[in-house]
Amino acid sequence: MKNPSPLTNIPIPLFLLLLLFFLLSPSASRAERSSLSRGSSLSVEDVSDILVSPSKSFASGFYNVGSNAYAFSIWFSSSANKTVAWTANREHPVNGHGSQISFRKDGGMVLTDTDGRVVWSTNTSSTQADRVQLLDTGNLVMKDPSGKILWQSFDSPTDTLLPTQPITKSTQVVSSAAPGSLSSGYYSLFFDNDNVLRLIYDGPEISSVYWPNPDDDVFQNGRTKYNSSRYAVLDGMGKFVSSDQLAFSASDRGSGILRRLTLDYDGNLRLYSLDESKGTWSVTWEALPQICQIHGLCGRNGICSYMQSKVVCSCPSHYEMSDQSDWRKGCKPKFQMNCNTNSFLELPGTDFWGNDLNTSESTSLEACKETCEEDCSCEGIVYTSGKCYSKGTLFNGRAPPDTPGITYLRMPASMSTSGSSAPQTHELICNAATYASSRGKVRWVYFYRFISAFGAIEILFVVSGWWFIISRRERKPTSLEEGCREISRQFSQFTYKELKKATRKFMDEIGRGGSGVVYKGVLDDKRVVAVKKLGDAIQGELGAELSLIGRIYHKNLVRIWGFCSEGPHDLLVTEYVANGSLDKHIFDEHGTASVLGWSERFKIAVGVAQGLAYLHHECLEWVIHCDVKPENILLDGEFEPKIADFGLAKLSKRGGVGSDISRIRGTRGYMAPEWTTNLPITAKVDVYSYGVVLLEMVKGSRVSNLKVDKEEEFEGTPKSFVRMLKEKLESGDESWVEEIVDSRLNGQFNCKQAENMVEIVVSCLEEDRNKRPTMDSVVHMLLLS
Ligand SMILES: *[C@@H]1O[C@H](CO)[C@@H](O)[C@H](O)[C@H]1NC(C)=O
Ligand SMILES: *[C@@H]1O[C@H](CO)[C@@H](O)[C@H](O)[C@H]1NC(C)=O
Ligand SMILES: *[C@@H]1O[C@H](CO)[C@@H](O)[C@H](O)[C@H]1NC(C)=O
Ligand SMILES: *[C@@H]1O[C@H](CO)[C@@H](O)[C@H](O)[C@H]1NC(C)=O
Repeated sequence: MKNPSPLTNIPIPLFLLLLLFFLLSPSASRAERSSLSRGSSLSVEDVSDILVSPSKSFASGFYNVGSNAYAFSIWFSSSANKTVAWTANREHPVNGHGSQISFRKDGGMVLTDTDGRVVWSTNTSSTQADRVQLLDTGNLVMKDPSGKILWQSFDSPTDTLLPTQPITKSTQVVSSAAPGSLSSGYYSLFFDNDNVLRLIYDGPEISSVYWPNPDDDVFQNGRTKYNSSRYAVLDGMGKFVSSDQLAFSASDRGSGILRRLTLDYDGNLRLYSLDESKGTWSVTWEALPQICQIHGLCGRNGICSYMQSKVVCSCPSHYEMSDQSDWRKGCKPKFQMNCNTNSFLELPGTDFWGNDLNTSESTSLEACKETCEEDCSCEGIVYTSGKCYSKGTLFNGRAPPDTPGITYLRMPASMSTSGSSAPQTHELICNAATYASSRGKVRWVYFYRFISAFGAIEILFVVSGWWFIISRRERKPTSLEEGCREISRQFSQFTYKELKKATRKFMDEIGRGGSGVVYKGVLDDKRVVAVKKLGDAIQGELGAELSLIGRIYHKNLVRIWGFCSEGPHDLLVTEYVANGSLDKHIFDEHGTASVLGWSERFKIAVGVAQGLAYLHHECLEWVIHCDVKPENILLDGEFEPKIADFGLAKLSKRGGVGSDISRIRGTRGYMAPEWTTNLPITAKVDVYSYGVVLLEMVKGSRVSNLKVDKEEEFEGTPKSFVRMLKEKLESGDESWVEEIVDSRLNGQFNCKQAENMVEIVVSCLEEDRNKRPTMDSVVHMLLLS
């Protein structure tokens, strides 16, 4: 025997003694118990009477949901506070005395209340059920002697899906009603009749789907209707894949991490990872970074908006909260509405989603108001550039900055002209990091973890969005400066002398572009940096603007370390990216010999899309790049792309009044058509430019040099080329792919990816920006191939 086990060295009598000790000690035997056999039970009165999974990650037993109220649940045992993953009796808690979960002799497992009443049952009586086990996956299973599963908790999810627990055509995930509560709320995740996985608000008065984006069609959302298997599951690596082609991954993708996908009480679907050393959860993906897009939040007539880092609900003027303790009940008018109330109160930048009585296009505002006046049930209209929506009931109101529509609420003439009094505003959310659980009296508290994780957004908010909201809400600004000071501590201001030294008197020029000349340098702390001398194009408060952006951090964005603004010198200090810009690698212009391979191109396409999606969506759509082009995409040693110069793009003013976004210009050949019209500039300009860059990566040449037929030359716009691509895509014949893709690759490319990329190009280059996908859905679409 090579390796005698320690036990074999123990004398036999002592071994028996130890065995006896383990068998008799109640605490030891109970704590280790991972299964129940027929005829045994768990009692509510003994807190240690629980099942623990073999790896001790999960426990199952009675969970205290309120004073003297208990639920039979499964929870994560290593989170600081018990985090419940599944509950048998969500709506019917049982008494703290005499309640039991018993695995009866007849094979059924039942939960009984103090009076013996059966509250819940597995419905497995008179089966061969032999044991109930809590597995390491967090699944509680009932098996027969042959190991066949007769019942499992994974088949009836509550508000959480665990890795390997699928959602299917017959199951749905339902949020809890409030933090700390286990009972069902109004939000569900489910497979819809068209096979698409959706989130719906299903409240007492209305039901409406809010994810994926209900304004876009299934394809634009990166989904498909054509797979009716209706099956989606999160795997052990943190990747979620659905039969409708939805796919996403945890940002900490990898094995060995405990995760959960929870439909939170605020209607957002979030993927969490557990830090087992601290017992805390962090969000690694979420369905809706912009909370106001969730329906039902502020109730009837209520309006959702962001104020600083908070999501708030407010009532329009002459309306008041229906129930001071519950925003979901919305607002009620302080006047009597009747058929003769024919005046309108204007709410700029406000939209109410859904519940349209009548929709018409190219209508004048007057005609639109008339349509509403003629219909007694019309409570108001939403009017956006010629489109008229008359509304039966006003739900899902939202007014985040950049909302294009104007809402006109119908009200008596005496009121609508009396000027707008400051509307009533109440905070919906509490402190950022709180996963507040206040049992007993439930407060309607929101948490907005995302913002705490990326404090920058908060500040972006303060500067760019806040004034906007403030001016609209007629409130007094408070601590704007405090926000900036806070930030500047994180972000370095360099002296000119320091940078002169770092760059050895600006010796090593590594680039030159519209916005300035770039030099390589090494800081005192050995950090290799790129120092950009900004030209005259930059005006205004360099420091103020950049310090906001300095804290934005994403692997596909060039990190900004600091700046220097001294007299005539404006310099920007950023991360140094080794491999230069994309144009040098895909175009022949510079006479470089090596050609970028297909897999690198694909990786770059995905990375750039992710970087832009981060700027557009996760930063609450504050940051629009405005100048996406190969010169602004830098590549590191591994050909991971990093988007540069986003710091110089103006922070989006979201199309608000007095927007001076016109100051920035894109680059010819990459500019969306709306730059030349008077339309407000939105994130969709970047989507367009990205489309051009993507096409250039596939083709390996500048779009502005492309020719469709031998004669026809582009005038810097890819319009006719796109038309041709569209026709080819529709033709169904796939041989064209070969013709489009860069011939220097000698056919070494992934055909499916190429086709998919061309499809994305076509949708990104839509003239009508509303038809272009968001960068988020571009990322999804790319990852599908
Ligand atoms: C656990 O709950 C308590 C009280 O509700 C709270 O103060 C604490 O922060 C929570 N801990 C974690 C890690 O969430
Ligand atoms: C057991 O059957 C009852 C009555 O049909 C049903 O309401 C309950 O949901 C079933 N329990 C389970 C765990 O499926
Ligand atoms: C449909 O979805 C299932 C589950 O995700 C998958 O296994 C199957 O391959 C899909 N079928 C098609 C035709 O894509
Ligand atoms: C909608 O409005 C248009 C124009 O005002 C009108 O012709 C049409 O009948 C209306 N439709 C409905 C369903 O009310």
